[in-house]
Formats: sequence, structure tokens, C-alpha cells
Amino acid sequence: MELRHFLQFKDLSRDELEYLFARTRVIKDRFKRYEPYHPLNDRSLAMIFEKSSTRTRLSFEAGMQQLGGAAIYLNTRDTQLGRGEPVEDAAEVISRMVDLVMIRTFEQDIIERFAKHSRVPVINGLTNEYHPCQILADIYTYIEQRGPIAGKTVAWIGDSNNMCNTWLQAAEVLDFNVHVSTPPGYEVEPERAGLFGTDHFESFADPMDACRDADLVTTDVWTSMGFEAENAVRMEAFADWCVDSEMMAVAAKDALFMHCLPAHRGEEVEAAVIDGPQSVVWEEAANRLHAQKALMEFLLLGFVHE
Ligand code: CP
Ligand code: NVA
Repeated sequence: MELRHFLQFKDLSRDELEYLFARTRVIKDRFKRYEPYHPLNDRSLAMIFEKSSTRTRLSFEAGMQQLGGAAIYLNTRDTQLGRGEPVEDAAEVISRMVDLVMIRTFEQDIIERFAKHSRVPVINGLTNEYHPCQILADIYTYIEQRGPIAGKTVAWIGDSNNMCNTWLQAAEVLDFNVHVSTPPGYEVEPERAGLFGTDHFESFADPMDACRDADLVTTDVWTSMGFEAENAVRMEAFADWCVDSEMMAVAAKDALFMHCLPAHRGEEVEAAVIDGPQSVVWEEAANRLHAQKALMEFLLLGFVHE
């Protein structure tokens, strides 16, 4: 089987993504019925974390176990990677011992270098630039709640960070639109976002304008992991980019609200929104488990036709 990685969202084609969303449904339904499903019996996943995590670690570890395999947690503090072992050497070794690797790290370049030297599929569990597994779960959640996402409008409010970049890539692959509103100085950098340039996004100075008629409103923390030194400056710059009830009121009547979590109520989102009736954040978080099980199955076994 051809070696495939999931380092950024556009590594999968539209057809493959549509297959994965359908497969997520099957795997989730089976899980809900308590039916054992162990296609990855005897396979193992190494999870390498250079940054903190609750959802990513748990969903990969539980997911691998539920598919019949095992997951091994490594963090940089306790491994030789933290003491300067070249990432290429680590990839050569680790990929001779497990079937699959998931990495959460800083620059995208680190995971790209690892993948170049890996004999097994590598999954991006978040980098400074991208968070493709989260967007897989988010789009699955949208489809589950509202049907196809093609042609819909997603409003992104706040920082043009890893989540924003990945939404923008996804829009190009799956043919929907993203309305982005960031404070001045924090605008999208199309090259860093890795866009094909198919013009599926529009920038708005005023977040209210970005939210108008949107089918989905979404945001994320003002200060991502790795950018903590900028926190005080960001707090001031982002003050008007808090998703509130007024923004939700100008979105489409049946608009959803999503947040990858962890969230800061009173900063990037008002409590009334994240805890309100349009919010699907718990479903979104839970779908990390199901979408990533479909992803791991695909990377190790290819298309499964039952
Ligand atoms: N959304 C997300 O990736 O959460 P964690 O940082 O807890 O993994
Ligand atoms: N943008 C956030 C996402 C956390 C899941 C960060 O990178 O810290």
C-alpha cells in the first residue's frame, strides 16, 4: 500500500474526505451500539507531544484501543528528542517500531522532516500552522448536524492561527467559503496557510460583517500554545473579537457555533454563546474520537468496503 501522511488538510482529496466522513458515521454508529470493531488488532501508534493536550491525546489513545491496537505516549521532556536528537534520526527509529505516528509540535517543518524519514504514516496532531484532525471532526460535525458543507459560509473570528489556516485549506478542497475577521496586524498569510489560491475566503474588518448570514460561526483562543509571550499585547488587540450574542444574531437563523477547545469564556467567546443553544462544542469534541478512528483505519488499511 502507498505510504500516506496527514500533515495538512489538503493531503487528502475531496473524494477521500467524503469517504472518511461516511466511514466516521459507520464507525461511530457501531461504537454507539457497543459493537466491538478491531481492524487494527496488533497495530501500534506512537503519539509524540511537544505541547499540552487533553482531547488529542485521549481521542487518539482511546480510539486506537477501541480499534484493537495500542497507543504509546511520548513527550519531548522524557525522550531524546528533548535533548537534541535529530528529528530525522528519531523518525528512522520510531517508525521501525510502530505502525503509525501522531505528532503535536511547533513548526510544520518539524513534522514534514519527520515524515520524510518515516516508514509509516504520520498524522499532524497540531502544529503552529495547522490542526487538520480538528477540522476533520468539525466538518464531520457540521455534516452530521446540517448536511453537506459545500457552498456554505463559515465565519472565522479572531486569530489567523493553525485552526484558521486549516479551515481555509478545507474550504478550497471541499468548496465552501470562509469569512475571516482578525484584528489589524493578525491577518491571514495565504502562503503560511498553504492555500491553492482558489479564492474561497474573504476578509472583513468588522467581525459583525464576517458573521452576517454565516452557516457556522467559529473561533479559538487569542493566544495559541507557543505564543504565550505575546499574551498581554494580544489581550488588548483582540478585545473586540469576542464572539457574542449580537454576532450570532446576524448569522443565519440555524447557524452553529464551534470552538476546538479549550475555551476562555469572556475572551474569544461569550459564555451565553458557547453554553447556548447554537453551540455544538461537546459534539464537536466527541467527534474527534470517531473521525480519527476513520483516519487511522484509512491510513493503515486504505478504503474499507464492508
Ligand atoms: N482541540 C484540541 O486539540 O484540544 P487539546 O489541546 O486538548 O488536544
Ligand atoms: N490554536 C490553539 C488550538 C489548541 C487546540 C493552539 O494552537 O494552542
